[in-house]
Parts: sequence; C-alpha cells; structure tokens
Amino acid sequence: MGKVIAVSGKGGVGKTLVSALLIKYLIESGKNRILAIDADPDSNLAESLGVEFKKTIGDLREEITELKNLAGLEKKKYLDAKAFEITVETEKFDLIVMGRPEGQGCYCAINHMLRDIIDQTTKSYDYTVIDAEAGLEHLSRRTTQNVDIMLVVTDASKKGLQTAKRINELAGELDIKFDKIYLILNRVKKESREKMLEEAKTTGIEIIGEIPDDGEVLNYDLNGIPLINLPKESNVCKEIEIIGGKIINE
Ligand SMILES: Nc1ncnc2c1ncn2[C@@H]1O[C@H](COP(=O)(O)OP(=O)(O)O)[C@@H](O)[C@H]1O
Ligand SMILES: [Mg+2]
Repeated sequence: MGKVIAVSGKGGVGKTLVSALLIKYLIESGKNRILAIDADPDSNLAESLGVEFKKTIGDLREEITELKNLAGLEKKKYLDAKAFEITVETEKFDLIVMGRPEGQGCYCAINHMLRDIIDQTTKSYDYTVIDAEAGLEHLSRRTTQNVDIMLVVTDASKKGLQTAKRINELAGELDIKFDKIYLILNRVKKESREKMLEEAKTTGIEIIGEIPDDGEVLNYDLNGIPLINLPKESNVCKEIEIIGGKIINE
C-alpha cells in the first residue's frame, strides 16, 4: 500500500506551496509512482507543478449527470471508460484535479462511483499527495481513502491557527482517519518566531517543520513560474527536504 499524505489548513496559508514542493522532494528522492490530487476547488496545484489539465472530476460528474437515460450499471461503465481522461500523466508524476464540488442536487450514486475510482487509482501509486480544500469537512466526501499523514499548514494568523486546531479536533469525528497529524508553520519570520511557536502549542498538534517566509516565492508567483522550479538550495526547499525526509522515513 502506498502512503497517502494530505495537506490541509485555512485558505492562503501555503497548502499548495507545501504540496507542490513535497512532490518536488519526492521526485528528487528518486521516488516513482507519485500521484498529486488537487482537491481544492481553487485548483492551482497544477499551475504550481507546471502542468496543464483538461478535465476535472467535477466535469466528469456533470457529464454523467446529464446522461439521464443511462441505467446505474451503464453509468458505472461509462465512468470506468472515462477515468483515464481525468489523470494527467507526466514523466515524473500524475495529477488528478477534483474541480468544482458537487452542487445542490443529489448525485450520491455518482459521487460514490467517483470515490471508488479515486480510491482504486490511488492504490497504484507509492505516494499520493492531496492538496486539500480549506475546510476539512469535505475531505471525507471526496475519497474514502484513509490518510496516513495529515499535514496541517498554518501561518502566524489567528485564523490560520484556529483552523489548525479545529482540524485536529475534527480528526476524531470524521469518517476518514489519519494515522499521524503534524503541524507545519509557514511564513516564519525571525522576529515573530518565538510568539508563533507559543501560539502553535494551542493547536495541540506536533510541529514537523518551520518554513521561512521567502521573497523568492512571491517572485515566482508574480512571474507565473511554477513553484516546482524553485531551486533546491532555496530556504523553502531546504526545509521541505527536512519535512519530507521525516515523512518518507515514518
Ligand atoms: N513561505 C512562503 N514565503 C513567501 N510567500 C509564501 C510562502 N508560502 C506561501 N506564500 C504565498 O502565500 C500565498 C498563498 O499560498 P498558497 O500555497 O497558494 O496557499 P493555499 O494553497 O493554502 O491557499 C501565495 O501567494 C504564496 O506565494
Ligand atoms: Mg491552494
């Protein structure tokens, strides 16, 4: 069984940065069979990884929902035949983009089938990295797969830390189970580090790493350069290397 790593936290705290750089780390550590899942409806993991995608799970859901005349079994066959369309294959890793979440209507049967497809797909990879939605409540509706390692990212903001705390509390209540849960402090600044560490204690989650605030990240963003291209020697990548090392050696 492969290792499933999910990255969660409030919007804007650095989930996509952590997910993209973790994938970079796995590739550089010589790992094969890596799957990236963009489960945030904002869908910018692909961009950070420098790949393009055509179709999302959300698109496939719409497509099948519109085929009203198909019986359940035919829908299942249709989905199985289309499953390959939603996996973007690159030389080093594959990517699935979840896209829009389900709408108001009840698509339970279809969602169930889609979950099966994702679970089935995930099984053939050694590492799956899920860039999760800001709210964690949806995660269990997206896949049934248990998560081996939940990485909760926070910046120094009150809201970021509160979300982290809530995720830890929710962990016991969700259908989905995590074996391990760790906190990543992001955008750490020298002058406020001590205070951030103090505040982080209130989340009750063990800290696995501290990523510095780095102007280079912003530069990449502004110029539309995929974060996966950040140099290995950059401060951010060096810290991800430490975090990644702990994760693969778990
Ligand atoms: N360590 C960091 N140093 C500097 N900027 C960062 C850092 N981490 C994230 N950012 C910036 O913060 C913004 C949000 O990061 P992102 O990874 O997209 O967050 P999320 O996926 O949680 O919404 C981005 O513009 C990103 O460039
Ligand atoms: Mg994001």
